[in-house]
Amino acid sequence: MKTHDGKGKVWLVGAGPGDIELITIKAVRCLKEADVVVYDHHLNKELLDYADAGAELIYAGKQGGYHTMSQEEISGLLIARAREGKFVCRLKGGDPFVFGRGGEEAEALSEAGIPFEVVPGVSSAIAAAAYAGIPLTHRAHSSSFAIVPGSEAATKTGSRIDWPKISTGVDTLVFLMAVANMPHVVAELLKNGRPPDTPVAVVQRGTRSDQFTVVGTLASIEGLAVSSNIRPPAVIIVGEVVKLRERLKWFGEPPLSEVESLKAGIGHA
Ligand SMILES: C[S@@+](CC[C@H](N)C(=O)[O-])C[C@H]1O[C@@H](n2cnc3c(N)ncnc32)[C@H](O)[C@@H]1O
Repeated sequence: MKTHDGKGKVWLVGAGPGDIELITIKAVRCLKEADVVVYDHHLNKELLDYADAGAELIYAGKQGGYHTMSQEEISGLLIARAREGKFVCRLKGGDPFVFGRGGEEAEALSEAGIPFEVVPGVSSAIAAAAYAGIPLTHRAHSSSFAIVPGSEAATKTGSRIDWPKISTGVDTLVFLMAVANMPHVVAELLKNGRPPDTPVAVVQRGTRSDQFTVVGTLASIEGLAVSSNIRPPAVIIVGEVVKLRERLKWFGEPPLSEVESLKAGIGHA
């Protein structure tokens, strides 16, 4: 429980993937007790209603490549507010340690001697697959999965992704931040031995009421994603488990026409 003895601290909190019911009880407690909430772009803003009416709410998101604050500025802000004796909830989409730069923020806090706690969240990599009816592992089809950043530029030298190993060494691949870079991701997988008929799903705005899923193969998915006007946030799931969606899809998705009008109306909050 919150005990204000004049010492501040920071909670690095996972907000889950979008469906507000997928936030943890612990995350809600942190939100309620925080004096300051520093929040990102890809999370359901309705969760901010849990914050205290007097809490300071600070947006630190990145949208379309534009950063509101640099990573150094965000870490500096967390440290400064904690040094003022405040309880700070750093709220991040999904899980804070899955491509959320939570590790870097924890390092900065540790170096500055600020007490911190990490509250795991339900990652979009897991949740979007589950809401699309795609089990990432299955005894008959997949005994391993990897979560991979799809944002690495095609021209980047010294790639940190070991494409030859992950292309065929892992059964199911889940790419985050990959929509704009889909041609490069598909080309690398094909070049490194994944067959063109490998099933692929793209799940846009997973777990939200306007979730939309496109299913194809490595050979067809780029064209399908373009014709469906897929936009971030979306995850790309590659592997035989995608075929299970046909039987296991359980979450009612609106038709594409409705999703398009929603996109026009509310954007990608
Ligand atoms: C910077 S990463 C953060 C990932 C986050 N920490 C997590 O665990 O989900 C942002 C990416 O997560 C994915 N993402 C986040 N929310 C999503 C959602 N509701 N549906 C599909 N993908 C989502 C997208 O690939 C997006 O580009």
